[in-house]
Amino acid sequence: MPRFAPHPERRPALVSGASSGIGAATATLLASAGHPVALGARRVERCEQVAAAIRERGGQAVALPLDVADSGSVKAFVAAATDAHGDPEIVVSGAGDLAAARVHELDPESFAAQLQVHLVGAHRLVSQVVPGMVARARGDVVLVSSDVVPSPRPRMGAYVAAKNGLEGMARAMRMELEGSGVRTSLVRPGPTLTGMGMTWDAETTAAVLEEWVGWGLARHPYFLEPEQVAAVIVTVVTAPRGVHLTLVEVQPERAVEP
Ligand SMILES: NC(=O)c1ccc[n+]([C@@H]2O[C@H](COP(=O)([O-])OP(=O)(O)OC[C@H]3O[C@@H](n4cnc5c(N)ncnc54)[C@H](OP(=O)(O)O)[C@@H]3O)[C@@H](O)[C@H]2O)c1
Repeated sequence: MPRFAPHPERRPALVSGASSGIGAATATLLASAGHPVALGARRVERCEQVAAAIRERGGQAVALPLDVADSGSVKAFVAAATDAHGDPEIVVSGAGDLAAARVHELDPESFAAQLQVHLVGAHRLVSQVVPGMVARARGDVVLVSSDVVPSPRPRMGAYVAAKNGLEGMARAMRMELEGSGVRTSLVRPGPTLTGMGMTWDAETTAAVLEEWVGWGLARHPYFLEPEQVAAVIVTVVTAPRGVHLTLVEVQPERAVEP
């Protein structure tokens, strides 16, 4: 008698922050592995473009409005996704943005907004989805963290605080859920070429990069592609039952110099 029933072949998945970057790539890859996906973000029209491309290739996808800073929006997102595809088996919390500012120069509302999206927003999803997973004795929760947790960077203090909070929550959840059949995992990307940071003006970008270099935090100029991080997230959720990838840090490999 195996210790665990295997996962079903079709596992409804929810992805927050699916209008761009890592979230969009993760939704696309999960769908190509045969899982129906619900894509959520504030720019629902961009989620719809990704969902339409998935459906064109024969996958199952719905685009739904989602603001993780709003409890009502998260509740409606989870309800609509469940109506569309059935009880969620996989949730990927990837929604996030980045305010480039020194902690003491950031107004308290902007500081709190970073915590709202990265930490409280992830909790809003967890609180809507995990009780059902526990009742069904299986499920995968992936919380997208960042390598700023082990290596904090200047001009990102609110983001660093939020991701540290997220990792603390995930570690407590792992203990609370041990033996429930529900796996909580952290995926910690390093620098990835996405929409994040792309709205900074050239002056801000130059100042941020200069300060990072000064702290030895940008040793080479290579970035990950969002699809590469998505592949790691899919590896985490498709690990066979009985195996729990609790924390995976993903870094861009430095190119081989000729
Ligand atoms: N890029 C990197 O170098 C890097 C490194 C480490 C970790 N990460 C993490 O990876 C995750 C994905 O970021 P990314 O790099 O893929 O950036 P991205 O391309 O900017 O994607 C961020 C996504 O989050 C969504 N989002 C932002 N605020 C939201 C809200 N209130 N409610 C719902 N969705 C919201 C955005 O959609 P809307 O604007 O349409 O809502 C977008 O889909 C984030 O958690 C980020 O912290 C990124």
